[in-house]
Amino acid sequence: MERATWAGPDIDVSKPSAARIYDAHLGGFHNFQVDRDAAAKIVAFMPELPDILRANRSFLRRAVRHLVGQGVTQFLDLGSGIPTVGNVHEIAWKANPECRIVYVDSDPVAVSHSRNILGGIDRATAIHGDMRQPQKILADPDTRRLLDFDQPIAVLMFAVLHFVADEDDPAGIIRTYLDAMAPGSYLAISHATLEGPEREKAEEATAQFQRSVTDFSMRTRAEITALFDGLELVEPGVVYLPEWRPDAGDEIGEASRTSTFAGVARKL
Ligand SMILES: C[S@@+](CC[C@H](N)C(=O)[O-])C[C@H]1O[C@@H](n2cnc3c(N)ncnc32)[C@H](O)[C@@H]1O
Repeated sequence: MERATWAGPDIDVSKPSAARIYDAHLGGFHNFQVDRDAAAKIVAFMPELPDILRANRSFLRRAVRHLVGQGVTQFLDLGSGIPTVGNVHEIAWKANPECRIVYVDSDPVAVSHSRNILGGIDRATAIHGDMRQPQKILADPDTRRLLDFDQPIAVLMFAVLHFVADEDDPAGIIRTYLDAMAPGSYLAISHATLEGPEREKAEEATAQFQRSVTDFSMRTRAEITALFDGLELVEPGVVYLPEWRPDAGDEIGEASRTSTFAGVARKL
């Protein structure tokens, strides 16, 4: 079995992981044959999936740029994934080099590769943790060291909440994070859905993912909008990925074919 330098001995390379499959879909190199095989089976049901994931990364870029434009200098990126092109720290630092970023992921490859690329930089770090345990993440010494809770913080949940089952109370998890934040903080979410014209394909791809990797909870636009309760949604509200504040010249196309909603909201 292959074992790369970024994969420690604790990593089970015989089972696919959501983070490494995502990396494989995006054409990254931090994945194993088992992940590529799982990715290929999912793509067989939904050939446009890699384009959707690129649309998600593009939303991440626009959202982070928007937030820095609003004066936010602190980011808590939950389910941050394996670093790829255009990571939160790169986008934020391009706009304001003073920004501080805490990455959190439950996947050891995502954390070890994040730490590798951050090297000795002291304005960003990566924590190995479960975002469903907000008290633990908020109390982590690295979180406390890097983030000032008296100042606004942007809580990022890009393409991660569909790994949080209803029984785990995603709304309660979000509330715990946001309750710890100062007024002027933000919540940004992207979340897969079965709404839209691709329902059948999305259902089959989800079933395949559940069979080979892990559980997956699709939600409706109304359910995703409800996750922002108590916050002020930034225009244009909860929309399909390419519709959220596209850059000049961006092709929006048939946005609903991304089967993913996006939104950003501010804590008053
Ligand atoms: C689809 S990737 C998204 C990566 C990145 N946020 C993005 O949008 O490009 C989902 C990531 O969430 C992580 N993840 C899933 N459940 C998690 C949990 N309970 N706590 C922390 N990370 C989690 C996975 O390991 C994976 O890296």
